[in-house]
Amino acid sequence: MNEEELKKISEEIKNCNKCPLYKSRKNAVPGEGDFKSGIMLIGEAPGFNEDLQGRPFVGRAGKLLEEFLKSVGKRREEVFITNVVKCRPPNNRQPEENEIKICTSLYLDRQIEIIKPKLIVCLGNISASYIFKKFGLRFESMNKQHGKVFSISNLYIKTKIVATYHPAAILRNPNLMNLAKADWEIIKEEMEKL
Ligand code: URA
Repeated sequence: MNEEELKKISEEIKNCNKCPLYKSRKNAVPGEGDFKSGIMLIGEAPGFNEDLQGRPFVGRAGKLLEEFLKSVGKRREEVFITNVVKCRPPNNRQPEENEIKICTSLYLDRQIEIIKPKLIVCLGNISASYIFKKFGLRFESMNKQHGKVFSISNLYIKTKIVATYHPAAILRNPNLMNLAKADWEIIKEEMEKL
């Protein structure tokens, strides 16, 4: 694994002006954590607090993510946390297709290639749609596919993929909490196999 290359990608992200999101960002958010853990958590895009601090999942959704991590015996520093898109979309709107295309081809794809995660946890629909498609899987909906384990093996990576509800979606709709807790039980089992 090439730590230098990962750092270089972070620097590129911080200086990126390849899509319109750079105009309104305060800080780009490359991602952080233990890239040697074999575990990658991938969210959607930075929000207000992440944009201020340049770090992923540091607002309310981040607190909930930390609780899920605690429930599986992990601290946030023990996994690698990043997003599909590295700059905050204005007013927290969803990232647009061209923003996702530009940002992932320049950054997330390379981060995955270097880290070679053994387990990818997709947080929310945007992340799951992108990652499933990237690895040749069909993503229908979170309601249908959350908490299921998909094994992927190709020339450059052997990994498992699990999608679960985005912590922000759970905060908006607490009915999702029990489903998410069950997903994290499954994620825990997969982590224990690593
Ligand atoms: N939501 C995300 O998808 N990512 C973050 O980093 C914060 C909130």
